[in-house]
Amino acid sequence: MSLRLGDIAPDFTADTTAGPIRFHEWLGSSWGVLFSHPRDFTPVCTTELGRVARLKPEFDKRNVKVIGLSVDPVSDHTLWAGDIEETQGAALNFPLIGDPDRKISELYGMLHPNADDTATVRSVYVIGPDKKVKLSITYPASTGRNFDEILRVIDSLQLTASHSVATPVDWKDGDDVIIVASMSDADAKTRFPKGWKALKPYLRVTPQPNK
Ligand code: BEZ
Repeated sequence: MSLRLGDIAPDFTADTTAGPIRFHEWLGSSWGVLFSHPRDFTPVCTTELGRVARLKPEFDKRNVKVIGLSVDPVSDHTLWAGDIEETQGAALNFPLIGDPDRKISELYGMLHPNADDTATVRSVYVIGPDKKVKLSITYPASTGRNFDEILRVIDSLQLTASHSVATPVDWKDGDDVIIVASMSDADAKTRFPKGWKALKPYLRVTPQPNK
């Protein structure tokens, strides 16, 4: 059975480029992003890891710990890290898990045998402070992910958690948001002092509350 939204992200122990970790303990009370790479010394993965290293301050700002995974051993990751720094202009500044026995890849459903029977696909899991899976995305090996989109979803998830709002199509940080349908107008009056525009009784639009 594959992991579904709301499931507890399975705990595991692993070797990483930052030393051995126990996943849940490493996450602590932070949000987390766990993302997989088909294998080491591959071009698309090299660009992705450089991009995430450059975006690390954005993840830190949101209290999100990032961790990558590739099915090769940590000794290979360490050699590959030199290439990432040389070609992407950023050194690896987050842990990369070595998963040569594919234990974690299996646990998280990152192997899709009908796409590739040995390497992982490009999976992304966003995990909340409650250790539950909040987002999962699966990309094919040949398509690099858009990490701006992953930050955008994290912004939306964190707004929902703190302010009981949902975010509309193509929402970006700073745009208007939607008051969740389960909130009564009476409660909304106290929660959203800037007011809202009701396009329909179920579609109440309000300025982003933390701006
Ligand atoms: C890559 O990272 O470039 C890649 C890895 C596996 C299959 C295709 C592309």
